[in-house]
Amino acid sequence: MIKLASQSPFANSHNGKDFDYFTPSSNPLPVGSYVKISTEDNCEYLGQIITQGIVEESGTKHAVGVSEDAHSLELDASSKRSKQKRVNYSRGMGNLLCRIEQDSYAPITAYDVFQDAKISRAPHTAISSYFLSTIAQNPPLEIGVIKFTDNQVRATLNPSDFYCHSFLCGQTRSGKTWALGVILEQLLLNTSLRIVVIDPNSDFIKLDQFHSIEDINKTRSENLCNEQYEAIRKRWDLIRTLIRIIKPKSQTMQSASNLSIRFSDLEKQKQEAILGLKPSEDPNETALFWLTVRNLVKRGCYSFADVYKCLERSARPPSIYKLLQRIKNQGILDWEIWCPAEGPSLIDELEGNWSCLIADIGVLDPPQNVIIAETILDFFWRKRDEFKRILIVMDEAHNICPQSPISILYSMAAESAVRIAAEGNKFGMHLFLASQSPEKVNFQVVASCPNLLLMRMNSVIELEDLKDAFSFVPESLLSQSLHFQQGEALLAFNSSSRTVLAKFEGRLTHTGGGDII
Ligand SMILES: Nc1ncnc2c1ncn2[C@@H]1O[C@H](COP(=O)(O)OP(=O)(O)O)[C@@H](O)[C@H]1O
Ligand SMILES: [Mg+2]
Repeated sequence: MIKLASQSPFANSHNGKDFDYFTPSSNPLPVGSYVKISTEDNCEYLGQIITQGIVEESGTKHAVGVSEDAHSLELDASSKRSKQKRVNYSRGMGNLLCRIEQDSYAPITAYDVFQDAKISRAPHTAISSYFLSTIAQNPPLEIGVIKFTDNQVRATLNPSDFYCHSFLCGQTRSGKTWALGVILEQLLLNTSLRIVVIDPNSDFIKLDQFHSIEDINKTRSENLCNEQYEAIRKRWDLIRTLIRIIKPKSQTMQSASNLSIRFSDLEKQKQEAILGLKPSEDPNETALFWLTVRNLVKRGCYSFADVYKCLERSARPPSIYKLLQRIKNQGILDWEIWCPAEGPSLIDELEGNWSCLIADIGVLDPPQNVIIAETILDFFWRKRDEFKRILIVMDEAHNICPQSPISILYSMAAESAVRIAAEGNKFGMHLFLASQSPEKVNFQVVASCPNLLLMRMNSVIELEDLKDAFSFVPESLLSQSLHFQQGEALLAFNSSSRTVLAKFEGRLTHTGGGDII
């Protein structure tokens, strides 16, 4: 036993990395919150609370000690107890983040050990300037407020935090799509990163429409003033001209839609999969198909209608007849994703000049939505040497790269995502996936994500799926997500080993659908 403590909170560090602490419950230090630790020799540290346990003791006289093993707190057996008074204590451990020096923050070292240091909530100014000091690139991304700071400390992220794969997870209506929108707006405002959004719920189709100052301030704890608003809006006016929103035919006034493809835009293997040809099971049928359309293939550029006409005009041997029947039965000719050979095609659009491209696959029936999503993934993979840096965003990612694909087309989309997840980073291709069901997203893709953005979760069982993939995030912090309010999130970045609890605020542009504020 090294300390009797009926009174003030204290902390010890034996390794200069983490600390254990003890505090009366009347002076709570919530998990994820920031603390200031002041030692007897006038050193100050900023730390983050990671775990918290409650110790209950009865008696007017009580004592709590920290054993040699810094994490196991024992009640002092020698204390005299009485049943008259019950006092609760919190104990647990935290991580040291930095040493606070006069005007700056110094990294901690193995020599930063202390005993019986004072521990208290960190002042807002210290948290705020610590965060700004961790932003390597300016300007930072301002995404909301840091939790447990009475809405006083703005949450700022490093743009380069998103120059790797990220996984955003949370139950339905936890605020994933909204949060994704906040991050995308900030990335567009503050970086030259190109962003393509595969938008399965048409949530981002109004990204080019800026909110009024009143509407923005309804979702901010600290109001933007007119000057700030005007400055951001002017910047957005420039960005807007480089936002492309691509909709299917049924959603546009034009007869031609850019969210459509030529059949020849797809690799042969995908053309076979759409037609239900199985080269390994029925090589003759596949061979006969390619023989029948050989002149089209020679031409290079052909539409699905071209292929259909060519099959109809042929002598129609039984297997081609069967194939035509299959196309008719499945209504493939009427899919709205087909464009004429002369275009315009999604591929032409992807090759164009834009900084953000939104593919609105919301009204496309499966498997058309998956075919378009896969076409986009495949396009960027094939052009990986030509682009500097690109962020590929997939909301509802379990529909595009599922763990258990329901058909070969889904398997192909999942394979494309796995390829980018495994090797994309080195070509500057980064994925940003969102899903309410981590277990339904291809596990290899999730496991390749160094960043976790976790919003409210339903159950402990779902958290189990994330524990393995994001083992760098302490379980005690992961489980905070069970109590999050809408918009609150845990943001964990493996490269910097930072874990921040924050609330997303201040969406700048309209959301698709209901646009509820
Ligand atoms: N941080 C937030 N502040 C204000 N409204 C929010 C916030 N997050 C979500 N919402 C609102 O909550 C609703 C559900 O959010 P959404 O992002 O669509 O959830 P999810 O994608 O997780 O299902 C939307 O109507 C959205 O406008
Ligand atoms: Mg959503």
